Amino acid sequence: MNNAFARASGRPATRLRSRTALVSAVVGLALVATSVVVASSASAATTLGASAAEKGRYFGAAVAANKLSDSTYVGILNREFNSVTPENEMKIDATEPQQGVFNFTNADRIVNHATSRGMSVRGHTLAWHSQQPGWMQNMSGTALRNAMLNHVTRVASYYRGKIHSWDVVNEAFADGSSGARRDSNLQRTGNDWIEAAFRAARAADPGAKLCYNDYNTDDWTHAKTQAVYRLVQDFKQRGVPIDCVGLQSHFNPNSPYPSNYRTTLSSFAALGVDVQITELDIEGSGTAQAETYRRVVTDCLAVARCTGITVWGIRDTDSWRSGGTPLLFDGSGNKKPAYNATLEALNAGGTTPPPTTPPPTTPPPTTPPPTTPPPTTPPPGGAGCTASISLNSWTGGFVATVRVTAGSTRLNGWSVAIAIPGGSTVTNTWNAQASGSSGNVTFRNVSYNGSVNPGTTTEFGFQGNGVGPTATPTCTAS
Ligand code: G3I
Repeated sequence: MNNAFARASGRPATRLRSRTALVSAVVGLALVATSVVVASSASAATTLGASAAEKGRYFGAAVAANKLSDSTYVGILNREFNSVTPENEMKIDATEPQQGVFNFTNADRIVNHATSRGMSVRGHTLAWHSQQPGWMQNMSGTALRNAMLNHVTRVASYYRGKIHSWDVVNEAFADGSSGARRDSNLQRTGNDWIEAAFRAARAADPGAKLCYNDYNTDDWTHAKTQAVYRLVQDFKQRGVPIDCVGLQSHFNPNSPYPSNYRTTLSSFAALGVDVQITELDIEGSGTAQAETYRRVVTDCLAVARCTGITVWGIRDTDSWRSGGTPLLFDGSGNKKPAYNATLEALNAGGTTPPPTTPPPTTPPPTTPPPTTPPPTTPPPGGAGCTASISLNSWTGGFVATVRVTAGSTRLNGWSVAIAIPGGSTVTNTWNAQASGSSGNVTFRNVSYNGSVNPGTTTEFGFQGNGVGPTATPTCTAS
């Protein structure tokens, strides 16, 4: 990812080193006036993304697909930022408007814009009580749990390899002093819904960092902050996959920047997760606003595992709280004092290396994770193929991920026979075509994944009601 940031910034370390050497030589030749100008422009990055990249971090913005035709907006986006978060386009109502019918059109516009320019993408968000489509709002119990897990699996699978970090679960804790979970239809499916979502996300995209994201979790003394801290601590202790915590950091007079913000960042980081500032905006104007931005950026740079900052919009007029003028650019796209302070704070961080601090060692899991160990078939020795299956199970349902491995010759097609236990049914399948839904089900390749080179793999998945298969699958080359 640092390479991506170096590409985005156009300021890889080697180029900086050779530029520094060149400047020294120029000084040596006594071209003093010229060299001072060159040295000063070489020492400070001139955009947010470039400066953050020099510190191994990203600086991103929330982006709306319908603004990608606005040239002022896109000009700032492309110049200043090396990460994007779709503001609404990856939410559940946008990506699965009808159950089982997925729409990635607007999210793809943002992802393609970003990836074609070397920007990374934060995915927001897979499981949330808000912005659920109507069909999901009316669900409960096992049906809702299965629908949520299917959503997580399908969306994370679709974007596998393209997302730097996913907000797997958003805003699951209540405000106020209780430290309790927020009541929601998802919460009422059982307290383990958050860890089930994280396990499904890990199975679907093992390369993405998986974050828990929330607001009003900036003040270390607040009950909600402490509750999220305990959740992350518990997940790390039990081996539930979690890699990062997102602090939204929407600051305003009712929820101001807290003086213990750096303590919050470093305390989460000490649990062995990255910390990301995911939705930063600070209501206000002028010097006061600028100085608060400076403090937030300085706090992040002081914590090795604070790996990036995303502002929640580009111009004040793009903000969900436009009346509070909380962003870095005014409505005309001009840089505000807040912008200058942010860039200065980033540059003041020095050209420190990327945060390579090894994560604090976490105690080994005290209980085995509930995923079923993958029953494997023998490694492929000859022609043909083998298949292995891993399960993410919960009461009443499961998601299966099946890996097909080609033997010593290239596969031009494959099928995998799997015995579905009596009483269980397959409810949907991805990256394969199923022959039925119960009993002995055969999964055949689809048009784009039948060809598998010798010794390489492809994966498909399916979801079901009941209990998942435990027998070893049988793979046949076709
Ligand atoms: O696009 C429609 C438009 O066609 C329609 O005419 C208009 C009428 O209300 O609505 C438009 O959709 C709105 C959408 O933003 C795009 O502007 C929705 O109503 C509105 O609800 C939606 O608000 C978003 C909000 O999340 C919803 O919860 C904001 O843009 C978005 O910035 C905000 O982002 C959240 C994060 O996801 C989570 N953390 C808090 C943050 C701020 O609320």
